[in-house]
Amino acid sequence: MADQSSPRPIKAERIAGFGTTVFSVWTRLAQQHNAINLGQGFPNFDPPAFVMEAARQTLEGYQQYAPLGGMPRLRQVLAQQAKKDWGRDVNANTEITVTIGATEGIYATIQALINPGDEVILIEPFYDSYPASITMAGGVPRYVPLRPTEDKGWSLDLDELRALITPKTRMLVLNTPHNPTGKCFTRQELQALADICIEHDLLVLSDEVYDKLVFEGATHIPIATLDGMWERTVTLSSAGKTFSVTGWKIGWAIASPALTDAIQMAHQWIPFCGITPLQLAVAEAIEASQTNGYYDELRQLYQGKRDQLVAILREVGLDPYVPEGTYFVIGNTEKLDFDNDEAACQYLTEHVGVAAIPPSHFYSDEHKHLAKHFLRFAFCKDDETIKQSAERLRAKLTT
Ligand SMILES: Cc1ncc(COP(=O)(O)O)c(C=O)c1O
Repeated sequence: MADQSSPRPIKAERIAGFGTTVFSVWTRLAQQHNAINLGQGFPNFDPPAFVMEAARQTLEGYQQYAPLGGMPRLRQVLAQQAKKDWGRDVNANTEITVTIGATEGIYATIQALINPGDEVILIEPFYDSYPASITMAGGVPRYVPLRPTEDKGWSLDLDELRALITPKTRMLVLNTPHNPTGKCFTRQELQALADICIEHDLLVLSDEVYDKLVFEGATHIPIATLDGMWERTVTLSSAGKTFSVTGWKIGWAIASPALTDAIQMAHQWIPFCGITPLQLAVAEAIEASQTNGYYDELRQLYQGKRDQLVAILREVGLDPYVPEGTYFVIGNTEKLDFDNDEAACQYLTEHVGVAAIPPSHFYSDEHKHLAKHFLRFAFCKDDETIKQSAERLRAKLTT
């Protein structure tokens, strides 16, 4: 008879250590205190009209499963876009997989390429689905932090990264433009990372979901385009941020035929395929954006929002690190008197009425202290929301 005194745990070991995501926790707190939510990274404004029109049309006509790798039309448009952005001929049939957002791209890539015990290097602060996906595959995340520089940028200590490499290291996860610092890795930095990956035969998962959100003075460079990197890189992106449709969850993985074949082996048993009409709507949206000026408008829109939020944070003493891309900005609470980032977020949510995210959740236990003075704000919000946040911050934080 089974031992009734110690009931079997319901949760499998691979997920037992996971908590509720930081976003759910802080969104709940924001709602409780009627705070403006600058925590969670999704736009609170409508997608462009041409994107919604494309969705209405494709919803009329397509209701059945898409092919495993994605609708051919979307894959062709993505190949066209890669030719424009990267100058590379990407094969739409053998080098592209359409995924359920970049999130499934991350999960499928890691399931496909990481064996139990393999080590994967993550750069902190990280997007929190990386360690979860690695753990679920039986892999072992190893962490190296970005450190703030004197001029309020961010840098990676390559010796610190090199020190993590062991014979078990299999992959480096890169995110550029980087959430939450807004850092766009320069060609020189990418070349140094590429050299390390080539020397140690590492694969790279390059998460580029903010590739169209890059501001004046910065450039987005896909590491896959550097010499010797195509064969070892999986480049992930998605439509969510670019077209303000985070709920559509249309993403893609671009990689060599050998890597794509592996990713599709995993993908076929995760969702099998992505949502057919929305894949086609995204194809229309990308194709239209190649000629209608949308990408420039988007950059200008977000650069304006960034500049507004950065100015407010400066004014109230939350010394921002100006992001080069993405729709996030990190503020610094060093001039204020908080024990840590959680305490600062709690104060802001409860007493100021503006919710942010404590970035220590994007660090390993070993490095959480590095985020002590950081707060992450999202500026993918309409002008009224940013204006109201400014009023609340000014009212409570300026003396
Ligand atoms: C760095 C990064 N990667 C991936 C994702 C998830 O992308 P998707 O919504 O396409 O799954 C996000 C969303 O916030 C992100 O910030």
